[in-house]
Parts: sequence; structure tokens; C-alpha cells
Amino acid sequence: TATLRLGIAGLGTVGVGVVKIVRKQAALLAQRTGRDITISAVSARNATKDRGINLSGYDWEADPVALAQRDDVDVFVELMGGTDGPAKDATEAALAAGKDVVTANKAMLAIHGRDLAEQAESAGRVIRFEAAVAGGIPVIKTVTEGLAANEITRVMGVMNGTCNYILTRMESAGLPYEKVFEEADDLGYLEADPTLDVGGIDAGHKLALLSAIGFGTVPDFDGIEIEGIERITIEDIRQAADMGYRIKLLGVAQLTGRGLEQRMQPCLVPASSPLGQLEGGTNMVVIEGDSVQQIVLRGPGAGEGPTASAVMADVCDLARGIRIPTFGQPVSTLRTAPSASSVLP
Ligand code: HSE
Repeated sequence: TATLRLGIAGLGTVGVGVVKIVRKQAALLAQRTGRDITISAVSARNATKDRGINLSGYDWEADPVALAQRDDVDVFVELMGGTDGPAKDATEAALAAGKDVVTANKAMLAIHGRDLAEQAESAGRVIRFEAAVAGGIPVIKTVTEGLAANEITRVMGVMNGTCNYILTRMESAGLPYEKVFEEADDLGYLEADPTLDVGGIDAGHKLALLSAIGFGTVPDFDGIEIEGIERITIEDIRQAADMGYRIKLLGVAQLTGRGLEQRMQPCLVPASSPLGQLEGGTNMVVIEGDSVQQIVLRGPGAGEGPTASAVMADVCDLARGIRIPTFGQPVSTLRTAPSASSVLP
């Protein structure tokens, strides 16, 4: 059986993690998928930076589009990030060139997901994005495969580790938001544009994707009512604690008779509930289906190993010939549900 050859665009934390797994677990990956998984070429903005691993054995492409189109690339692994620009150009080029795509890019898919899924479908390809939602937690596979026979009734989650770190640290150390924000910055937890984290936008992108696969709807990021954590005070947290609650940046989505309700906002959750016990940079996703009732998944939502684990799970699916459509069903069957968020009481 043929080798599955990767082209990796973006060598930040996640890209480096992927390279490490491909090397360290080569034998295990071959046993499980029946194919050797190799890296043909890589691409990154900075080709000379020390990333702590030897990357000289790979071909380097200055242009991710050229990488995506190479004959010796079967799967294009997009880990550059960004809603538009090189990530989207290279993804489209890969699909047009007949490659499957694995990406961790929640922003790109939350905004352009339908369009890209359509391009993938007409090219007979798929886009897989396990790493885009809740990092190392296999939430996409859980919904599209493990819960394939359920009508999903509600999805909820704490899906930004940085916000959960800030809120729990404010609480445990009794420190104000501004102070903990600086700490998070020093620790390197914040996105280059911190508004993506603390403004609830990153978590909103993830909710849009989770809704789409759960409800069979077109990803609708604009339909989400988003409020970040910037205005949460230590007094808010104390008062919540006095009543037995904690404050979490919680995403909730459900399909009702009025349409799709999607909210990402600071919420009170009972301190004794699973969501209320979530500490630090961890993520939690709660999925409810008509037959399964409720399942709760908890784990690392970011970081080198966990996110690369999710990327490689998608690569393994492709190596095994598992080709689920991008949003779990054909694009033509995705519904455009009216947004019901704004009419909530
Ligand atoms: N900034 C994100 C988080 C990284 O804190 O969860 C993963 O998307």
C-alpha cells in the first residue's frame, strides 16, 4: 500500500508537534493505518528560525500555494492560521490540485467553511478539522462518527483555555482581570491578537463549527451572540461563588423552532457541575443527543502535543480511507437556519 505523503504549511507550535509525532510514532502509525506516513515538504514564513528540531531533511517551499500543489503531497496540512490570505489561498489550491486538507484553522472554516466544503466536494476531496475545535479533545469525530445516529439537541462548551485560565486564576489568586491578563501574556497563552481570546471570538469560531456538524447547518459565526470576559470583575466572581456558582465563558447552541440559537458569553454555572469544576487552561464540551442523552468531554484545548494529536488523528483517518464529508454530510444538505439568538429573552 502506498505511502501517505504530507505537506505541512506553518511550523509554529502545532506544526512542530505534528513533525514530532510523524517521526516518533512512525511504526505505530503504520501499524494502525497500514500505510507509512511521511512528510514530503514544509513551508513557514521564517525558514531559519530554531524550532528545536532538525527540519533540514525536508524540502522547503517559500510559497504555501506551491507546497499545496506539489505532486509528492497527498494531504495538505494547513497550520498557518488566519481567516483569509495564504491559509485560504493554499487550501483552495490544494483542493483544486486534488489533495485532501487537514487544518486547525477555526477562523477560516467558521467564516468560509461552506464555500471551502463546496470546493472540496466538487473536487472529490475532504477537509478535516479535528484540531480546530477544543484542541486535543476528539469532539468532531465524537459528533460526526460516535454520535452519527443521534439527533443532536444541544452542544455546550468551554472552548477557550486562555479565558478559562484567566477566570480561574482571578478566582484562586484574588487578582483583578488586568493583572491576570498580563500574567497570561507573559506565559504566552494569548493569541497574537488577544481580542480573539478574551473577546470570545476564538471560542465563537469553535462554536460555529460545532453547531454546523451537530445540527447539519451552514457554519454561522455572524449569528452568534458573543460577549467576552473583559468586563468580568473579581467582585462578580466572588458574588457568584457566594451563591455556589462559577463564571465560565460558555458557548451554547441549540436548534429550536425559532431557528438556531448560538451564544458565547460569560455564564453562571453551578460550582459542583462538570463545567463548574473545570480548572485552568482546560476545555470541556457537553453534547446532548436524543438517544445518547448527554456526554461530557474534557481535555487540553491547546498546546503542541494535544493539538498535533488531533491533526494526526485526521491524517490517520485519511490514511485509512475514512472520508467523511467536511461537515459530516454533503454541502447541499446543510440547512441555513435563521438565527434565533437575538430574540432570546
Ligand atoms: N487561544 C486558544 C485557547 C488556543 O486559549 O484556547 C486554541 O485555539
